[in-house]
Amino acid sequence: MSRLVIVSNRVADLTNTAQAGGLAVGVGDSLRQRGGVWLGWDGQRLKYEEPPEPRIRKMGPVSLATIPLTQQDYDEYYLGFSNSVLWPLFHYRLDLVDYKSEFLEGYRRVNGKFADALMTILQPDDVIWIHDYHLIPLASELRRRGCTQRMGFFLHIPFPPPEILAAVPRHKWLVECLLDFDVIGFQTNTDLGNLQHYVADQLGCEMSGNVIRTGEREVISGCFPIGIDVDAFSQMAQRPNEEVQIETHRRRVLRRKQIIGVDRLDYTKGLPDRLRAFERLLELYPEHVKNVALIQIATPTREEVEAYADIRRELEALSGAINGRYADFNWTPVRYMYRTVPRDALAALFRVSQVGFVTPLRDGMNLVAKEYVAAQSMDDPGVLVLSKFAGAAEELREALIVNPYDSDDMARALNRALTMSLEERQERQQALIDRIREKDANWWLKSFMDALENRNPVPA
Ligand code: ADP
Ligand code: G6P
Repeated sequence: MSRLVIVSNRVADLTNTAQAGGLAVGVGDSLRQRGGVWLGWDGQRLKYEEPPEPRIRKMGPVSLATIPLTQQDYDEYYLGFSNSVLWPLFHYRLDLVDYKSEFLEGYRRVNGKFADALMTILQPDDVIWIHDYHLIPLASELRRRGCTQRMGFFLHIPFPPPEILAAVPRHKWLVECLLDFDVIGFQTNTDLGNLQHYVADQLGCEMSGNVIRTGEREVISGCFPIGIDVDAFSQMAQRPNEEVQIETHRRRVLRRKQIIGVDRLDYTKGLPDRLRAFERLLELYPEHVKNVALIQIATPTREEVEAYADIRRELEALSGAINGRYADFNWTPVRYMYRTVPRDALAALFRVSQVGFVTPLRDGMNLVAKEYVAAQSMDDPGVLVLSKFAGAAEELREALIVNPYDSDDMARALNRALTMSLEERQERQQALIDRIREKDANWWLKSFMDALENRNPVPA
């Protein structure tokens, strides 16, 4: 078996259990099983340039290779092109795109840095798997430096329709960069279809099934929905710490139910709309007043980008307003926490919550939805309420699927979830758990590697 070299903007500390972000969790779960090298940014912002050799740290079967960036790289490549241009654009939020030509220059420069660092550690038989929107030009940069190894790319976030993509300068260049990979993978069939339309209409490429012909080369495109390590998460969920046990006991005695939301505090996650939907539940179905609470855990993320600071202020005002209106001496309707929680505590909280409320306005996959399902007990499972705009909705069809822009629709679904019979909850849970087991972290790694190592076309 070839050595697997994974590259992403950020690497995950595999020993730290409190890490937010689907990429870190999904890649971490997969790489632990296969072993290999994982190269990425070390999180530092230096005032000066450093030589390209990465720093290597061994963590069991995985070698973490990290490089620092400069403050200018951080501003232009990370905050700038990656998170103020590509992130909003790919999540269909043209109103939030803030394009500057120096961002694009920084993006190209840092992709060059990643290529230089990789070239110092690559071995001839390595197979390279590059992740996410920060590193779209990396295959082109590597090929320019003479790299001939097989290279795959996986996009963790949505790929937008051609009309949206065309709003950003140099969009053709971006997609041509993608075609320098051997395999390009997406979370959903919608994303895959969007890319295929773009390359056929705008670049005039020929398609045969999922194979894209570009000049002399053939590029395999496919849909590989990311999954989680279901057993590991389910086991964590069965070991609640003392705090969770006491709180759950208290709620049982008081016959109170809990709705849970867990996200990075990102404007794509639909958090204000979610809070409004919870308020609407209390308005439309007053029987839930004092009997149901919403716990929302939101991890700080990309706080230097203005849109993130705005969404934080909005959420804090909204949770304060709902509590001001409804709270009583012994009941707080919204418990809002702005922090990262250890994974095992999260798993246990999912298990004791009657509703998993996952309502992004647009999301590549959304692993929280899969984690909520993995954490449930078959004896008394909770109900997943899921946005139709999460990639996960393509698979998790037995969830209650909602429109995250429609607070009445979400309030009705919450009420239905809170009053659903045990039999229906069990039926839905069985179907959902079967689906997340079928396409878990291991399946994701194996199916992508099969396409990349054996160049097996993915069925259309
Ligand atoms: P994204 O990749 O956009 O952040 P996902 O739902 O796919 O969205 O992945 C988020 C991951 O981060 C999940 O594994 C989730 O459990 C974790 N996570 C999100 N928020 C928190 C938090 N507040 N504390 C701990 N982990 C979190
Ligand atoms: C999403 C993206 C990842 C990113 C993560 C956390 O999951 O797909 O690429 O790493 O969010 O965001 P951050 O900007 O902190 O790396």
